[in-house]
Amino acid sequence: MGRTVEVKLGARSYPVHIACGLLDRVGELLVEIAPCRRAVIITDDNVRALYAARLASSLAQAQIDSLVISVPPGESSKSLETLAHLYDEFARLHVRRDELVLALGGGVIGDLAGFAAATWLRGVRFVQVPTTVLSQVDSSVGGKVGINHPSGKNLIGSFYQPLLVVIDPDTLRTLPSAEVWSGLAEVIKYGFIADRSLYERVATDIRALAAEPGSSLWEEILARCCEIKATIVQSDERDLGLRHILNFGHTLGHALEAATGYNRLRHGEAVARGMVAALWLSHWLRAFPEEELEASLQVLEQFPRPELDDLVAREIVPHVAHDKKGTSAGQKWVLLDRIGSATVIQDPPAELVVQAAEKMLR
Ligand code: NAD
Ligand code: GLY
Repeated sequence: MGRTVEVKLGARSYPVHIACGLLDRVGELLVEIAPCRRAVIITDDNVRALYAARLASSLAQAQIDSLVISVPPGESSKSLETLAHLYDEFARLHVRRDELVLALGGGVIGDLAGFAAATWLRGVRFVQVPTTVLSQVDSSVGGKVGINHPSGKNLIGSFYQPLLVVIDPDTLRTLPSAEVWSGLAEVIKYGFIADRSLYERVATDIRALAAEPGSSLWEEILARCCEIKATIVQSDERDLGLRHILNFGHTLGHALEAATGYNRLRHGEAVARGMVAALWLSHWLRAFPEEELEASLQVLEQFPRPELDDLVAREIVPHVAHDKKGTSAGQKWVLLDRIGSATVIQDPPAELVVQAAEKMLR
């Protein structure tokens, strides 16, 4: 059947197509939206082995030649060195402005390839073909692209919207279970901030969703997440206001990632723990109801728990001050009034933040 979500941004509008089997139809979709003779597929070595040949063959059926550039999997590829390697390859292959860059992979590839496309020749058309839960519900939609700097994550980047996003939930079937759970943290986040019925759906079926990535239930859930993200991005493309609510659970989650050197937890694992802290702060500061707190914490306790016993709350909290979302006026925190209703507050009392961090570590 399939679903389409429109991201409505005037001249930068684009569709997000979601359907099982779409990987084999990318060429056909491109002919309609972005005709070209040649496309460069950027991927990582894991995803290349699984899906690059199918994508290339779909392009060939639409008379589009393709080239594949593959980089090592993992966050370390979101670097200036790997970006320089992509530019070198683009130069060697004479990539022109009327050609296309296709990002095939998770959020690392989408962010890296998107930034390369945004900057090569001042902008080459760009298509996202995300293959992880996180990239299918979050990073492929909304146009944030970029790389890391040794002093912090995502510090170099821009807003560069894709022409098209093609989501094939079938690709999730090969994703390691830990990556599925990590993405599910972002899925349930959408329920917390914007849609109580999505929250209830995911909370009820969380084990089935984790056990069977790519099932028909997934198609519906992925589409709902993309719809919520599209609505938020449409009203705040440059992240100056409402878009901030996507950061629910991320303030202490990012601090936890930073405090552990970005190599002990997956992003979603840190966000799941960060949401525990944000729920407690919501209860203390926004009268988030006790019964909703208990139910939400029970859902989050089902997520795989990284070993955090050696960490100390007071040593994690200072990392919040270095979050790139901070301003000279301080940090904005996303809290909930109810499940499905988010609010942004400025700098909660420091002692409460420490207590929330303690809850997060328990
Ligand atoms: P990832 O891209 O590193 O992918 C995780 C792992 O899964 C990798 O080893 C990859 O090779 C493998 N993989 C990908 N698809 C697969 C598949 N279908 N089957 C088997 N293995 C597969 O990680 P991620 O969680 O997708 O993305 C994380 C990145 O996303 C971070 O760099 C983060 O900063 C970024 N991000 C960006 C935005 C944004 O708005 N641009 C939003 C959230 C996160
Ligand atoms: N992932 C957060 C954003 O797109 O703004």
